[in-house]
Formats: sequence, structure tokens, C-alpha cells
Amino acid sequence: MDLDDPHTLELFLEVYGTLPRAGPGQDAHTMRALGLVPGRTPRTVLDGGCGPGAQTVCLARALPETRILAVDILGEMVEEANRRLTAEGWADRAQAQVGDMAEPPVEPGSQDLIWCEGAIYSMGVIEALRAWRPLLRPGGTVAFTEPLWLTDAPPAEIHDWWLSEYPAMADDREIRSEIDQAGYHIVGTFELPASAWWDEYYQPMRARLETLRARYPGDRAAADVVRSAEIEIDMFQRFSEHYSYAFYVVQPSD
Ligand SMILES: C[S@@+](CC[C@H](N)C(=O)[O-])C[C@H]1O[C@@H](n2cnc3c(N)ncnc32)[C@H](O)[C@@H]1O
Repeated sequence: MDLDDPHTLELFLEVYGTLPRAGPGQDAHTMRALGLVPGRTPRTVLDGGCGPGAQTVCLARALPETRILAVDILGEMVEEANRRLTAEGWADRAQAQVGDMAEPPVEPGSQDLIWCEGAIYSMGVIEALRAWRPLLRPGGTVAFTEPLWLTDAPPAEIHDWWLSEYPAMADDREIRSEIDQAGYHIVGTFELPASAWWDEYYQPMRARLETLRARYPGDRAAADVVRSAEIEIDMFQRFSEHYSYAFYVVQPSD
């Protein structure tokens, strides 16, 4: 799928841009991870790769005194996140803006909490944690989710598929080592259950795929978007015991 092609990107956003979430996750897991964050209520949160803003809204609801800035590189995702924040009445202290989470538009030493659900893969765990270290206030925390292998020897079919999608896919031991190499330690971690993939991601995605198929008969790019999503869902259906996402809540070690 070539997301540099404007038509393909438009089709991609028709499927992913208004899903409840643009990756595996649920509010219950966002809240569980927030409960693992040590110290006082954060005054500032940066939400990197916010997508349509599900976790941004969840954090805004849970932290009524906190200023939240969410960034995403896709303007359409930012619009959807801001639409949801406005609809819930949080827009005075929680906003999304177009930006690169590798260089977020915040001052050094200004963030109590950096949140990143389903997006740290785009930078790499070590690179992201190192880039965000100077942005944290003393006592600050980073919470992120990352896909991981759950078994030592996954079947070749799913191993090769993930290799083509995300060559850096690691297991928990390797992710722990990356966190350590980046100069952080774990304060809490847990694996996401299968419901985090189905309820707000793959089930609603299936409905969007049906709509896309019906709306663009004979459109090759639409067929590609549908096929690639269906393959992904089929892989999870058949091989979910071999991989999932996990939440990691980490703090700098120095
Ligand atoms: C898998 S989606 C997850 C979105 C959202 N956090 C969620 O869980 O629903 C990943 C998001 O990260 C965004 N993204 C990827 N690289 C980024 C970057 N360098 N800076 C900001 N956003 C980025 C993508 O545009 C996409 O919206």
C-alpha cells in the first residue's frame, strides 16, 4: 500500500481515520497504565501519535486539571482527535496539532508524562525514549504500547508477515533491554488481551472494509487497502497466541 499516493491515503483514512482507535487498545488499558504512573497527578501530558484521539480523550477525562497536547503527522487524525475533545468539552485544556513526535513542539523539561499508544514503533523504542528524555520534568514518566512476540518460535507464516510489516518486532526480554539501553527502568508493564484488538479496532474495521468495497467497485487502490487489512485480521485470528501488544510505563534511571 503506497500511502504517498493521495488517493490511497484518502482510502486508508476512510478506514482508519474514524475507527474508535487506530491500533489495538481500550480505555480500560489506558486507565490501567495511568494507574501505574508514580507520583502526583501530571500537570502536563504529551500524547505522541494520537491518531483519532481515543486515548487523548480518555486521559483528558481522567485528568481534569491536566494540560494535554496531542500530536500526529496526519492532519485528518488531528481533526478527528480535536472533534472528539471538543465534543466532550475538554478543548480548553486538551488539543491536538499536526506535529512530529520525534521533535514535539514542547519546551525541554516541560512534560510530566509522555503517552504513546501504538505509535512508538515508527521511531523505535530506544530512539524515542532517548529523544523524549530531555522533554521530561524531574520525576517524569513515559507510557507506551509496543507489539511483541509472546512465543519463542512463532510459525513461519506469521513470523514472515510481521517481518515484512515491522522488522524490529521484539519480545518482552528484548524490549526490556531496549528500555534499559535508553537509560530508563520499568515501573509497570502488562500485556493487552485479545479484546484490545477486536472490540475497538478489528471489529469496527471489518464494517469499514465492507463500506469501502461497496463504495469503490473496480478501484484497485481500494481493493489493496481492503486486502491488506483483511490479511492482517486473518493473521490475528489464526496466530494471536504468538503476539500481542504490551504497555510499558517507564522512568529515566538517572
Ligand atoms: C497505529 S496509529 C495509533 C493511533 C492512536 N494512538 C491509537 O492508538 O488509536 C499510529 C499513529 O501514529 C502516527 N504517527 C506515526 N509516526 C508519527 C510521528 N513521527 N509523529 C507523529 N505521529 C506519528 C500515525 O499518523 C498514526 O495516526
